[in-house]
Amino acid sequence: MQAGQLDTLAREAARLIPLHLRKLLATPQRFERFSRRAGPLLLDFSRQKLDEDALQSLGAVLQQSGWQQRRDAMFRGDVLNASEQRPVLHTALRAAESRLASPAPAEINAEIATTLRRMGDLVDALERGDAGAFGIPAGITDVVNLGIGGSDLGPRLAVEALSNCHSGRFRCHFLPNVDGHEIAALMRRLDPRHTLVLLVSKSFTTQETLLNGAVLRHWIAQAYAGDEARAAAHFVAVSANVEAAAALGIPPERVLPMWDFVGGRYSVWSAVGLVLALAIGMPNFRAFLRGAALMDDHFRTADWRDNLPVLLALIGVWNRNGLGYPAHGVIPYLDGLAELPAFLQQLEMESLGKRVNADGGDLHQATVPVVWGSVGTNAQHAFFQALHQGSDIVPLDLIGVVRPAHALKDNHDALLANLLAQGAAFALGKTPDEALAEATRGSDAERRALAAQRTFPGDRPSSTLLLDALTPESLGALIALYEHKVLVQALLWDINAFDQWGVELGKTLAKSILPALTTGQVPDAFDASTRGLIAAIRALE
Ligand code: F6P
Repeated sequence: MQAGQLDTLAREAARLIPLHLRKLLATPQRFERFSRRAGPLLLDFSRQKLDEDALQSLGAVLQQSGWQQRRDAMFRGDVLNASEQRPVLHTALRAAESRLASPAPAEINAEIATTLRRMGDLVDALERGDAGAFGIPAGITDVVNLGIGGSDLGPRLAVEALSNCHSGRFRCHFLPNVDGHEIAALMRRLDPRHTLVLLVSKSFTTQETLLNGAVLRHWIAQAYAGDEARAAAHFVAVSANVEAAAALGIPPERVLPMWDFVGGRYSVWSAVGLVLALAIGMPNFRAFLRGAALMDDHFRTADWRDNLPVLLALIGVWNRNGLGYPAHGVIPYLDGLAELPAFLQQLEMESLGKRVNADGGDLHQATVPVVWGSVGTNAQHAFFQALHQGSDIVPLDLIGVVRPAHALKDNHDALLANLLAQGAAFALGKTPDEALAEATRGSDAERRALAAQRTFPGDRPSSTLLLDALTPESLGALIALYEHKVLVQALLWDINAFDQWGVELGKTLAKSILPALTTGQVPDAFDASTRGLIAAIRALE
């Protein structure tokens, strides 16, 4: 953002800071003016510390960014990821479900369609218990998704969120981390002869995934008296590096491609979502794509004032650069969405956690806030104290589902009542006078001391997102909403949202530390802390 634009936001913020959210919420038609719907999603941002003038100023910044051209360039397949010279085409993965014609290159659409068909054939065969044509033995009961980051978080979120749609044909497990406790526990629970391993790695170089793959391969081979070929029959690979998958002995019919034009954290719509398709079946998987396509169409056509991803992005920019809040909380009021904060952490922080632009120039403004969160109501009984009365303000996305997938009405009403109550409490607070009126016992000084502790400053912003129901469509739309929010923020902040160089240094260091840890040959070049810790670890081994 330009210095002038930041000044405008600062001026708007200075004007709005003295206006308590109580006042803003009391203005006529506040909800009608500051809520919008797209398909199955309703966004209420009336509890954001914004008014029309501030929104208009944000809109002006947006218009100056040429956002529509950049948006269309993404859908078209222009090279948006400059540092890796790649187009950014996760939207093409769901374009077949879109009402609008896909502007992506025809050969890419064709490749995607072929892969989706192959994926469907594999899923159908496994569901029938007849995947011999793919070389997979009969009797698969358990599927282990081996993958980390984007090869784990999106599929895991969706598999957990859509438990109501599970066919029940397979038990699905996720093994992202290299922590041996998890893999050892999983191997104790599962029968290797009835386990299918999905080795999901865009790069096929990820240490955790390859190491876990080797462990499971050995475990399965042992069940076949060391027969490697029979063990390999239990593996399916999903990767942009199909040669590396083939080098592990996985034949082409069990290698599903993904592509360099899809970032890992944007890849759940591709064959990376195979575990999801196995959990919910292909018709539901297509419905999931349809929900995302619905959001794509909305993003491509709606005016910015009605455009949910744009509004979510502007609200984020306002809270970060206008009001200066360094964190953002995501609180889904539904256990099925428990993985949403972790998913959004990667989507937003890996995409937007940058401080230079694509030309290497320093950015003028702060970028991504710390994204974190956990499910309500659990979170209310854990960290909400700090959110209500602590010294820092954390804007929130409160996410709820209107129609539950169960008949326990009292439970659901209680859940929604809590969601609504928290948003109100954060915004309105409780004044010192109100707190004092409630403090009826003790001396005057004691009453005042207690009232101070029972005062809630309020004026703490939140948005509420309501899904009509949690379905494959609405979940697809919700994820796509956040993907496009990221794109818009990337434009406003002048960031390449599709690379992630910041993850590399640690990976390189881990590679050089591993031999020192195992052999005890610790190079002097290591820093004092690393040397000391290696010695401490080796002393206990
Ligand atoms: O280390 C970060 C990262 O590259 C993510 O961007 C990615 O989602 C994850 O690792 C897994 O990568 P891969 O799918 O290539 O194994």
